[in-house]
Amino acid sequence: MKYLIANWKMNSIDIEEWQNRFNKTLKLNKDIEIIVCPNYLDIIKCSQQAPNLIMAAQDVSIHDDGPFTGQISAHQLSRSSEQLKYCLVGHSEVRFKGDSNSTVKKKSQKLEGCNINSILCVGEDESILNKGEREKFLLNQLDSYFQDGLCPKFIAYEPIWAIGTGIPADKKNIDDALKIISIFLKEKKLKKIPLLYGGSVSSKNVEEIMSSNILSGCLVGNASLDGEEFARIAEKL
Ligand code: 13P
Repeated sequence: MKYLIANWKMNSIDIEEWQNRFNKTLKLNKDIEIIVCPNYLDIIKCSQQAPNLIMAAQDVSIHDDGPFTGQISAHQLSRSSEQLKYCLVGHSEVRFKGDSNSTVKKKSQKLEGCNINSILCVGEDESILNKGEREKFLLNQLDSYFQDGLCPKFIAYEPIWAIGTGIPADKKNIDDALKIISIFLKEKKLKKIPLLYGGSVSSKNVEEIMSSNILSGCLVGNASLDGEEFARIAEKL
């Protein structure tokens, strides 16, 4: 089974047009689960206009319902749409706003309590990579997450230095990072969790990226905004 996730971030998408372009291009005859991450407001719109779409939220609050201006609780997410099955946690763009490893874990705990699966994002920035500290950094992100029996549905390796640049990580870097994650999971005797890659994936590079046989799929930002391009990626996955 392969997985392809569209992270639409804060982009405005015309869901009807996106779906038309996606369906027109897609001829899939393989097993791929497609998931899209709309912004909070569009989750409801998407479930009305695209009743077969499986969705993930882009973030969640660490709190339960209460006086937390601008936030959305896991409970509210779970009531928003039956098509919402997942939520990203630990995306670097959310970590930039201040989410620590322990915040990421708390968010996942709240989601688990509401039967929403977590998509855990990990990944280093360029200075960590250049200093040769990637392994230590990734293990720290993973170790703090997996302390209390939590288990995400997916782990996405998203090197910050490749996100939004148009240039994905090369095969060696992807393989090295995936090996670090796989060995960690094996040593902790954790069940097999599908590993994804994210960072400038497009229809032009997805085959090269997926040639890494530890990968189960991709998490796509920019190239997922156009339904046609996203379908081309799905075809090549
Ligand atoms: P890009 O595909 O735009 O690099 O974004 C990747 C990403 O952040 C997906 O979550």
